[in-house]
Amino acid sequence: MTANLVTIKCFREFIYRTIIISMNPTSHTQYSHAVRNNYDRLSRIYDLISGGTERNLIRETISTLNIAGTGNYLDIGCGTGTGLVELAKKYPSAKNVVGIDISMGMCKKAVQKITKQKLRPPLFSVCQANGFSLPFRSAKFDLVFMSFTFELIPDDLFQLLCSEVLRVLKLSGVYLTLNINVSKSRNPIFALYKWGHDNYPRLIDCRPVDSCMILKTFGFEIISTQTFNLWGIPVASVSASKDKK
Ligand SMILES: C[S@@+](CC[C@H](N)C(=O)[O-])C[C@H]1O[C@@H](n2cnc3c(N)ncnc32)[C@H](O)[C@@H]1O
Repeated sequence: MTANLVTIKCFREFIYRTIIISMNPTSHTQYSHAVRNNYDRLSRIYDLISGGTERNLIRETISTLNIAGTGNYLDIGCGTGTGLVELAKKYPSAKNVVGIDISMGMCKKAVQKITKQKLRPPLFSVCQANGFSLPFRSAKFDLVFMSFTFELIPDDLFQLLCSEVLRVLKLSGVYLTLNINVSKSRNPIFALYKWGHDNYPRLIDCRPVDSCMILKTFGFEIISTQTFNLWGIPVASVSASKDKK
């Protein structure tokens, strides 16, 4: 009897996850649930499948930052902690470098990475949290960084994300995104990537987005943009500040 109940519950959960959440992750909770599950699974192999080129782009983007070195810095969707380590190298006198990720699996990997690098709390910390509801006071951060995470956010949730980033940023703060960008490029690798995303969105979950346009729409002013080529896939880093107009 108990075993039957468990089977029915498991079956219901399976249907819920595969059909409702995976096929239609449009609302805040559905998206969060699907992404958390996916990255909890991927966390064990994430550093193996995400290439050195991605790490180089994160390093290069952070190295071009031109903001004071003694502030508070936040990495949303910090993953296994690559951005945190680069922020630590760039800003050794930082007050606070915080990584948040929705996936506990990724948070654990980030903690391992920063511990290996001897980056100790309270200066460096990682916590499981959602970018749509940041557990920080308003106007705390000088920098909010996001690498290869902006392009996971569903269109109808950009406003929510941007309003949270605007809230936690200082007036003079910078929002720096690094993402796969929309492009008219006919590069066959890019075409294959887009085909992969359209057909296997759970496996190839990052989609090209127009980060400049999204940031301008939701309350930011663009400071600068940089474009990169990741094996034929266009990537852009965009730094933006609060639109003061
Ligand atoms: C493609 S990985 C990139 C990880 C890391 N930033 C990097 O560049 O190596 C995307 C990460 O964003 C996290 N993520 C996605 N949506 C999020 C959200 N709403 N709040 C917090 N983390 C989120 C995922 O769990 C995952 O770890």
